[in-house]
Amino acid sequence: MRILTTTLTAATALAAATCAQAADVEVLHWWTSGGEAAALNVLKDDLSGQGIGWQDMPVAGGGGTQAMTVLRARVTSGNAPTAVQMLGFDITDWAKEGALADLNALADQNKWGDVIPAALQKFATHDGKWVAAPVNVHSTNWVWANKAIMDELGISQPQSWDEFVAAMQKAKDAGYTALAHGGQPWQEATIFDAVAMAAGGPEFYQKAFVELDEDTLGSDTMKEAFDRMATLRGFVDDNFSGRDWNLATAMVINGDAAFQLMGDWAKGEFLNAGKTPGQDFLCYRFPGTQQQVTFNSDQFAMFDQEGKVSDQQAALASAILSPGFQIAFNKVKGSVPARTDLDVAELDACGQQGYEEFKAAAASGNLYGSFAHGHANPAAIKNAMYDVITAHFNGEYDSATAVEELVTAVQINK
Ligand code: BGC
Repeated sequence: MRILTTTLTAATALAAATCAQAADVEVLHWWTSGGEAAALNVLKDDLSGQGIGWQDMPVAGGGGTQAMTVLRARVTSGNAPTAVQMLGFDITDWAKEGALADLNALADQNKWGDVIPAALQKFATHDGKWVAAPVNVHSTNWVWANKAIMDELGISQPQSWDEFVAAMQKAKDAGYTALAHGGQPWQEATIFDAVAMAAGGPEFYQKAFVELDEDTLGSDTMKEAFDRMATLRGFVDDNFSGRDWNLATAMVINGDAAFQLMGDWAKGEFLNAGKTPGQDFLCYRFPGTQQQVTFNSDQFAMFDQEGKVSDQQAALASAILSPGFQIAFNKVKGSVPARTDLDVAELDACGQQGYEEFKAAAASGNLYGSFAHGHANPAAIKNAMYDVITAHFNGEYDSATAVEELVTAVQINK
């Protein structure tokens, strides 16, 4: 009898646990910095308001490289999370494997097709099916500057590469770290996004990173881009190696460093520290890329649950695309809404600028997927590019060798 009771109790407990799990959504993501966590809370609160629990599966590491490795291991062991933060070609790759749920019913009901721009639909859909819900649009070609240092040194917004170098020199001479940087491959690639765009212009960027054209990858212009990376290397502090991006942002926030080159998730850190754009910090496009936007879009892909979309997955996807959430979340995250039909008066000045520039770049053909954040080419090529860019930044290759290595890396992984 006692055995039976024990067995029953255990069975009841298991049923309860299974039930609790079924009502939860398990979300794998890499939003672990202060600003990112604050933004994630907007989503968690939205869902908890609908009675849906949240099982958190954070995998630290900006750009999501580690998160994607953990995801692969989870799926291989037959234990895919319900929903996963993903970028660009990673979504396409998982969709090709047939792993993602078909969100068409939801998309039709809520008319996603009318409000999500083509540049995002390219990744959110596969073979005529919606497979991911776009949360936002980030862009990588930004400079973040400490306003007090700019004022003290009389530095105005640099309009060209030479002016930017002169500004960094001024900051260095005054005893500041000119460039706050975290020496991790994805951060170096993020900088390279803007540096390459500025060095060669949009056609060069398209040919090199999207079309993977060998002549362009191996060109003198690419060498110039690497030379500029070497110049930037001369403006970082001695402790840059391995530093997380948000700690680099903190150096600008605290007035230890003048500039950071980073996507607009950096703004989330400034805001989380109680700082105001225009007053405490400045945002401007990387000099020479004022007309262009190199973007990436965080999207949540839902892993297929035996052919149907669970209620929790549907609630998560609907919440993400709702106008109220798009504003509330992006205000905190530093990004701009993925929907193009919103009034963004509630966003701060950098956010309003970013939203207008994103739409203008899309209309004028100046919108480019960020290669550093998986929107120009698939992960194998992206990671091979990371290796070359980082090796060069750390002095393993001179610029001419880096160009050759880049060509080879792409040839091997294409
Ligand atoms: C993501 C951002 C994130 C950043 C740093 C990017 O790839 O798109 O949402 O904040 O990485 O973690």
